[in-house]
Amino acid sequence: MSGPHVPVLLRPLLRAVAPVGGTWVDGTFGAGGYARGLLQAGAEKVIGIDRDPSVFGMAEGWRGDYGDRLQLVEGTFSDLDRLAGQAVDGVVLDLGVSSMQLDQAERGFSFLRDGPLDMRMGGDIPAAADLLNTADEGTIANVLYHYGEERASRRIARAIVAARPLSRTAQLADIVAGCLPRPKPGQSHPATRSFQAIRIWVNDEFGQLVAGLSAAERALRPGGQLAVVSFHSLEDRIVKRFMQARSDAGGGGNRYAPVQQAVEPAFRQPFRRAIGPDPEELEENPRARSALLRVAVRTDAPAGEVDARSLAMPDLPARGGELMRSLTYLACVLVVMGLAFWAYRENYATQAAIGQMAQVRREIADLREELGVLRAEWAYLNRPERLRQLVDLNFDQLQLVPVAPDQFNDLDQVDYPKPPEPEPPLDPSTTPDNTESQP
Ligand SMILES: C[S@@+](CC[C@H](N)C(=O)[O-])C[C@H]1O[C@@H](n2cnc3c(N)ncnc32)[C@H](O)[C@@H]1O
Repeated sequence: MSGPHVPVLLRPLLRAVAPVGGTWVDGTFGAGGYARGLLQAGAEKVIGIDRDPSVFGMAEGWRGDYGDRLQLVEGTFSDLDRLAGQAVDGVVLDLGVSSMQLDQAERGFSFLRDGPLDMRMGGDIPAAADLLNTADEGTIANVLYHYGEERASRRIARAIVAARPLSRTAQLADIVAGCLPRPKPGQSHPATRSFQAIRIWVNDEFGQLVAGLSAAERALRPGGQLAVVSFHSLEDRIVKRFMQARSDAGGGGNRYAPVQQAVEPAFRQPFRRAIGPDPEELEENPRARSALLRVAVRTDAPAGEVDARSLAMPDLPARGGELMRSLTYLACVLVVMGLAFWAYRENYATQAAIGQMAQVRREIADLREELGVLRAEWAYLNRPERLRQLVDLNFDQLQLVPVAPDQFNDLDQVDYPKPPEPEPPLDPSTTPDNTESQP
C-alpha cells in the first residue's frame, strides 16, 4: 500500500503563488493537502471541488478546524466557475488520480490489485468494463495510442476484443502483459500505459482539463492566479499550450496559424518554465519526479473561447476515421508503388542512355586517334624536301608529267599517260619453256 496521499509540489506551489490570500478554488480536492496548505498559507476561503464524493468523508476529521473557511462541493472542475459562484483569487488543479483511489482495489484503477474493471473517479458515467466490452477494436486501439502513447495499441486492442467480456483489472493487466515483452529490471509494469489511457478515456480527463482551464479563466478576477500540476507529458502539453495561447495577444501563439484579430491576452506567465520538485521532495516522495507545476496570472481582459484543437489535446478519430485511415494508407501505398515503378523505368532509361553515351565516346576516341595519325602523316608529307625525297626514291614508278603554271586550274585536262595495257596471258602450248621441257 502506498499510504495516505502525500501532496506533490505543495511547497513549490505555495512559494510560486505567495502571498496567498482571498478565495481559492481547489478543483481537485482529493485528500485536501492543497486546500489545507492554502488555508494555512493565508487563504481566507477555499472551495474544494472533487468529482469523487468519497474524498469528502476523509476530510471530516480536520475540516472543522477551518469552519466556514473550507467549503466542499461535489462536481467536476470543468464547471468550477459555476460551482464557485463568485470571482476568485486563485484556482489550483492537481491533475490525475489520487493514491487513495489507486490503492482501493474495488475502484478498479490498479493493475497491481485485482478488482472490478471500473476506473470511474465519480459521476454517472460508463465504467471501463462497459467501454471495453462494447467499443470497436479501432476505437480501443486509438485510445491506447493517443491517451497512453502505447505503441503496441493495435495488438493489445485485438487481444482485448478476443478476450471479451472483461470484468477484472487483473484480467486486463494479463492481456496487456501478454502482448508486450517482459519488462527489464527497473522498467514500469507493461500495463501502465494502457491503464492510464483507459482511465483517461473513462473520465474524459483531457476534455475536463480543457474545459477546466477555460472555466478558471472565467472565474479568476484580475491578478488571480491559476496553478496546475500535471503528471504526464500529454496533460502538461495541454496546460502549457493553454497558458501560452492565452498569454499571447491574438490568442494563437502559432506563427503558421491564420492571422487572427488581435485579442487582449487573458493571462501573463510569471515563470518562463514549468516548476519541478525540489531535491528534498524527491527524496521524501520519489513519485513526485514526473510532476510539473505551471502558473499563470489573470489579466483584466475579458475571458475568451479556447479552441481545444489548438491545445494539442489528443483527439480520438471519429467513427469512420478507421476507414478513412485505411483508405489514406492504401492511397499512400499506391502512390509509393507508382513512384517506385516510375523510378525503376527512369533508372532503366538512364542506364541505356549511359551505355549509348559510352559507345559514342568510344567511337569519338577511335576517330580522334585516326585523325591524329592522318595529321601526323600530313605533317610528315606536307614539306617540299619530303616530297622530293619521295619522288627521288620512286622516280621510275611515278611517271611524272610536267605541268605548266597556267594548267593548275585545269588539272583534270592534263594529258596523263595511259597506264600500260595489261599483257595477255601466255599460251602454255607455245611457251618456249614448255617446248624445252618436253622430252
Ligand atoms: C491527485 S488527486 C489531488 C490530490 C490533492 N491535491 C491533495 O493534496 O490531496 C486528484 C483528485 O482530483 C479529482 N479529480 C480528477 N479529475 C477531476 C475533475 N475533472 N473534477 C473534479 N475532480 C477531479 C480526483 O477524484 C482526485 O481526488
